[in-house]
Amino acid sequence: MSFYAPTEEHEMLRETARAVADEKIAPRAAETDETEEFPSDVYKSLVAADLHAVHVPEEYGGAGADALATVIVIEEVARACAASSLIPAVNKLGTVPLMLSASEELKQRYLPPVARGEAMFSYALSEADAGSDAAAMKTRAELDGDHYVLNGTKMWITNAGVSDYYTVMAVTAPGEGARGISAFVVEKSDEGVSFGPKEKKLGIKGSPTRQVILENVRIPATRMIGEPGTGFKTALATLDHTRITIAAQALGIAQGALDYALGYVKERKQFGKPIADFQGLQFMLADMAMKLEAARQLTYHAAAKSELAMHGQPQKDLTFLSSAAKCAASDAAMEITTDAVQLLGGYGYTREFPVERMMRDAKITQIYEGTNQIQRVVMARQLLK
Ligand code: CAA
Ligand code: FAD
Repeated sequence: MSFYAPTEEHEMLRETARAVADEKIAPRAAETDETEEFPSDVYKSLVAADLHAVHVPEEYGGAGADALATVIVIEEVARACAASSLIPAVNKLGTVPLMLSASEELKQRYLPPVARGEAMFSYALSEADAGSDAAAMKTRAELDGDHYVLNGTKMWITNAGVSDYYTVMAVTAPGEGARGISAFVVEKSDEGVSFGPKEKKLGIKGSPTRQVILENVRIPATRMIGEPGTGFKTALATLDHTRITIAAQALGIAQGALDYALGYVKERKQFGKPIADFQGLQFMLADMAMKLEAARQLTYHAAAKSELAMHGQPQKDLTFLSSAAKCAASDAAMEITTDAVQLLGGYGYTREFPVERMMRDAKITQIYEGTNQIQRVVMARQLLK
């Protein structure tokens, strides 16, 4: 039984997103990688086309697009530029905690500016000593009257410095482990918020990754997302929906590499004929397309489950499927981009051709939103419970 069926609207959205990606994003991708600057012009183009945060519900001024539509947008942007695809992806990651657990007041305050393209939203779970073991975080939030005071350093925060708002997980009840963690909205303009230098990375260089440093940041207690002690659950429940967007990013990167390689092998001649005539390369191309399509079907299936779960129909296999989609798509992307470099030979190894960048960009999809070892931990726990 199929749980999803892309509609005509989904296909139209794909066409729109591909046109924006081809015209406005692809021509900037190599330069963005080279300069390591956040592509503000790409953000503006995405906002102009209303593709920067399609997932925000209509009641908060958004397009109200479903999870599959969000996947399609991220895929198409990532096909052109992986770093740029973190604009729609991380806007979703930062805001899903609110959509799942926040008070109506917080939703009304923080979702509309994101929908309008006036603010971006990041998600701050990880710390230097708490990556895979996220519950080992040290950042503290102490109640002081009707305010919380936050102290600590969040590490590896995507789009930090560019985003206006941050979902921050912090310990409110030390010694209680995961049940002692709460989630908050922190604003970039809050006194005591600062950012570390940009990490120098292998790929996705146009997406800044920085520490978010919190020094006596005093925020109203009403900025807590949900109840005290529910922050870790909200953080993990969020990842159930957003690991699917990383799968989408991986699919897009892989599709970009496959498409480029397909064009190249028809043009490049060796031994007096196009290299596409060699069966050894044809088999590589077939395997690349097969792995990509298998990962895409899993991702779309997971997206359909995510959509049902978002609308009051809990899906008991969502945790498994979102981890499986992220793991399968990112492993496929790493293999497909590596093969694309191989298909271009020496040229593929240079920055004159985009597959080199795509291979570097693909690697992160096996690491963030939980490494693929952690995805296997999650899947195995679901199987064995
Ligand atoms: N939804 C809701 N609640 C969940 C849950 C889920 N999917 N999974 C677990 N929980 C609950 C558990 O029921 C438990 O609650 P109770 O104590 O009340 O029963 C609580 O959360 C703690 O669960 P665990 O004991 O399973 O937690 P753990 O400490 O063993 O950790 C883990 C589990 C899977 C390893 C988790 O820490 C994890 O996913 N680690 C990876 C971190 C990660 O993915 N970080 C991503 C950062 S964001 C990012 O990277 C952004 C980007 O790229 C752009
Ligand atoms: P570690 O946890 O130290 O892992 C090291 C190795 O040990 C890995 O291979 C891991 O798989 C393995 N390992 C650990 N535990 C186990 C286990 N139980 N079983 C088997 N193997 C295990 N975080 C955010 O909160 N917000 C963001 O926006 C964000 N963006 C990021 C952007 C980038 C570019 C990067 C690099 C990271 C980002 N992260 C973000 C953090 C990311 O989620 C973590 O890097 C990731 O979860 C891994 O944590 P770690 O780096 O501490 O690695």
